[in-house]
Amino acid sequence: MTTYEETFRRSLEDPEGFWAEAAEDIHWTKRWDKVLDDSNPPFYQWFAGAETNTCYNAVDRHVELGRGDQAAFIYDSAMTNAKRVITYRELQDQVSRFAGVLRSHNIGYGDRVIIYMPMVPEAAIAMLGCARIGAIHSVVFGGFAPQELATRIDDSGAKLIISATCGLEPGRTIEYMPMVNEAIELAVHKIENIILLQRDEHPVETITGRDTDWHEAMANAEHTNCIPVKATDPLYILYTSGTTGQPKGVVRDNGGHMVGLKWSMKNVYGMEPGDVYWAASDIGWVVGHSYIVYAPLFHGCTSVMYEGKPVGTPDAGVFWRIIAEHNVAAMFTAPTAFRAIKREDPDGKFIGAYDLSNFRTLFLAGERTDPDTLKWAQQKLDRPVIDHWWQTETGWAMGGNCVGIEMLPVKPGSPTKPVPGYDIQILGPDGIQLPNGEMGIICVKLPLPPSGFPTLWNAEQRYIETYMKEYPGYYQTGDAGHFDEDGYIYVMARTDDVINVAGHRLSTGAIEEVICAHKDVAEAAVIGVADKLKGQLPLGLAVLKAGVNRPCEEITSELVQMVRNDIGPVAAFKTAAVVERLPKTRSGKILRATMQKIADQEEYKMPATIEDPIILDEIEFALKKVGYACR
Ligand code: COA
Ligand code: AMP
Repeated sequence: MTTYEETFRRSLEDPEGFWAEAAEDIHWTKRWDKVLDDSNPPFYQWFAGAETNTCYNAVDRHVELGRGDQAAFIYDSAMTNAKRVITYRELQDQVSRFAGVLRSHNIGYGDRVIIYMPMVPEAAIAMLGCARIGAIHSVVFGGFAPQELATRIDDSGAKLIISATCGLEPGRTIEYMPMVNEAIELAVHKIENIILLQRDEHPVETITGRDTDWHEAMANAEHTNCIPVKATDPLYILYTSGTTGQPKGVVRDNGGHMVGLKWSMKNVYGMEPGDVYWAASDIGWVVGHSYIVYAPLFHGCTSVMYEGKPVGTPDAGVFWRIIAEHNVAAMFTAPTAFRAIKREDPDGKFIGAYDLSNFRTLFLAGERTDPDTLKWAQQKLDRPVIDHWWQTETGWAMGGNCVGIEMLPVKPGSPTKPVPGYDIQILGPDGIQLPNGEMGIICVKLPLPPSGFPTLWNAEQRYIETYMKEYPGYYQTGDAGHFDEDGYIYVMARTDDVINVAGHRLSTGAIEEVICAHKDVAEAAVIGVADKLKGQLPLGLAVLKAGVNRPCEEITSELVQMVRNDIGPVAAFKTAAVVERLPKTRSGKILRATMQKIADQEEYKMPATIEDPIILDEIEFALKKVGYACR
């Protein structure tokens, strides 16, 4: 049996041989000239010169190889009680028609298309339809507000938006069209057309000349074949939070993406073709791109697509119902979902009501799995529970327990070891590798393995500045952590202004920008405070302009509403406090980390460069008033 250590060593000693072998699992219309083009670091290109098609590998290939009648997607909506099975053959029919719809809207190779949709199978069909004709999709999470959508329209220069009339959240219908219309108004770049999926839950009037009805267009569409594209062409752009309000457009290529993701299904997740795999996430996040849509299909698996929550739709047993009903072999979700289930059903009573005999492994990611949640899930499910660590930028796991190669002992609090292909090193501020046990910046020695982002959309310099410049020759992950004596990695914190709210990545800088736009606010700081359910929550501290004497509560509730309107409800920004001053260093840097420690009642060292230590007492007082620093 091949061991993890052997596989890992081989992947670093001979990356080109290792990934060329993995690439044999992919269909290429033209083979590569070079496995890795490293002539222009840090812009590395995997499978340079090759041609292929992502949609062909995800869909058509399986029909040709005899999987036509197997389910590609099982759609299960706990919001509408709808269930739908879409076989690979049906998916091929739908996707090739949808590619025809795109063509009839003048969309072709290299054009950008925004997909702003809830969790319905048409969202995946739209993504695959773009891939089929070499168009570049950019999916925007439905919980984002019009301003965020507008930013993405402008940055991507999209020609077309594909949307639906509504999303469904417990107790309310999210009307998409007012948000789409507002975003189109806000954007400088003009959108020519909208393809609109009418949902029965909320039919709307369409705008003649601009909107096309999904079903009508599909009924009249011509089937359209896959076209070969370069392995190095962009498949998609996925915007993610950075330090500022301007999100970063992470680019994913076609060839490397397929090779990395296909390999991961067997080796990271232990899946075989034909198995049922379920990632309970949203297509708006990278997990949804990689593990609801692409990887399970590349591997000939059945992917479950779920619309609903872990609790309340209708109860904390819904995950077990889905696993049992659809024969799920492996599930992937965020730890926060398990914390929600644990809170509702601490004894795991719902679990016993379902037959989980085909269920093999639970995978968690999106945030660190806290040891309590891990142990609870292990005990209640009596299955391996695997924490694994990754990012939008990489598209698949950097750290994990590769159960398809060799299951290593699980250590709570650690996502186990570097995944083959990732040369992870912990570096100190001077760029020197730190010994095991010492906390530093988690970096990956370049090149990243296939599927790692080759660049940021229209922002090559930002790619270098943000990720590659500080430690030349390395990708700086933005996470801090350490290795233990057994080579297990521990990912403990972010090194930038990113916070993680219910597994969603948010920028405190972006929230600060919104708050600072309030007419009465002089300056503001946003910190991520600990939350038992969501891991972290954003909390705002605002200093008012001189002379403002309106009630503070009125202003803070306006701030909450502004963030909800401008970023979206998903930011879960519910608490803000007015303070006299913000603590700063003598050079003017706001001491956010110190304030976060005060809010969470963690020990902290008085920063040597603090301008005025008394301000920290004022902050503590203000935090107490809004329910922090006192629990
Ligand atoms: N469209 C519109 N609004 C959305 C939305 C969407 N697609 N998704 C979430 N929202 C809204 C919610 O309705 C909620 O609004 P509210 O403030 O009016 O209540 C807000 O955004 C926060 O949503 P959410 O993060 O889902 O929190 P919640 O309190 O409703 O539920 C959990 C808590 C833990 C159940 C939920 O966060 C969860 O299931 N998390 C799993 C996360 C996940 O899968 N992450 C992907 C990475 S793997
Ligand atoms: P995203 O790009 O939205 O997937 O968020 C990536 C970030 O989430 C990482 O940089 C980490 O900060 C955090 N993260 C994701 N998975 C884990 C994990 N298993 N352990 C610790 N942090 C994680």
